[in-house]
Amino acid sequence: MIDFARYDRVRPLRWTGDALEMLDQRKLPFEEVYVRCADHPAVARGIHDLVVRGAPAIGIAAAWGLVLAGRDVRANSGPDALRALRDAVDVLNRARPTAVNLAWALARMGRVLAASGSDWQERLEAEAQAITEEDLAANRRMGELGSDLMVAGSGVLTHCNTGSLATAGFGTALGVIRAGVASGRVERIFAGETRPWLQGARLTVWELLQDGIDSTLVADSAAAHLMASGQVQWVVIGADRICANGDTANKIGSSQLAIVARHYGVKFMVVAPSSTVDMAMESGAGIEIEMRDPAELLGVSGTRTVAEGVRAWNPVFDITPAGLIDVIVTEKGVIEAPDRARMARAFPA
Ligand code: MRU
Repeated sequence: MIDFARYDRVRPLRWTGDALEMLDQRKLPFEEVYVRCADHPAVARGIHDLVVRGAPAIGIAAAWGLVLAGRDVRANSGPDALRALRDAVDVLNRARPTAVNLAWALARMGRVLAASGSDWQERLEAEAQAITEEDLAANRRMGELGSDLMVAGSGVLTHCNTGSLATAGFGTALGVIRAGVASGRVERIFAGETRPWLQGARLTVWELLQDGIDSTLVADSAAAHLMASGQVQWVVIGADRICANGDTANKIGSSQLAIVARHYGVKFMVVAPSSTVDMAMESGAGIEIEMRDPAELLGVSGTRTVAEGVRAWNPVFDITPAGLIDVIVTEKGVIEAPDRARMARAFPA
């Protein structure tokens, strides 16, 4: 049994009863400050500007954003409130396009409203709380399921930040790694920097440090050399959207890790809650890949490093084809060699 309190000390979101506080991930690791969001436009801005990021965390934030929007609505029934909240749902939904968790959380909140009477405000708040708690429970379950697939003494490479900061707590891929450390299955952790926003360098290794877990930072471009060295047996990443055929959107750079892993015989694991599975999306070809400001790429942490006049292309997610994924882990179970048939069995309509 994992000592979760020992291995999970960070929280990205705090609900105060009248506002959502976001740990400002733009300022980590050097400053731990919270941004107070008292209405839904502030929540949408926080999601868009990466104050909070990570697929499950932005879904949870959007759910609380809708609770805040509901505070300004006078309606006698849930369906009336749902109509009044349509614009707020749109504003929150548009904050970022790639992670399905945002739309998933808002659709779930919408279903609760559609089925509520005059108590819709309490039910909306209870649902946001349930989404938060279920995500934490899913992460703990995935931690056990994913780490059980590893042999003792394994080395892992992870990408981006998939930890407590990106979820309700514990993390997806980083939850598997935490659970693996607790059980002795994970001995070496390598984290890629994750250019351009540096989620790996600024967030993942900091988060592990909070738990007293040792990790080693590598340049993204060191991945092939690292795998060739024999120090890692698994690449473990999260996901922003998993399609009906198993194709997976995740942080830019994930697909090249999968290609290199296959070349060197390193196993590739995707870890995500079922809220990240989008069975309505046939394949990765249909996923909107978020494009962000080229300025993120033309400098490091706000300081320009590239000559003026140079252009940059900044897609922030990519698609890993299902054929390069050895295993997808959700809280519902493990899908080995994912394809359309296995996904359909795991997630029946
Ligand atoms: O742009 P970000 O930082 O929101 O991207 C996050 C990722 O790509 C994560 O790997 C993914 O959301 C899973 S987080 C548990």
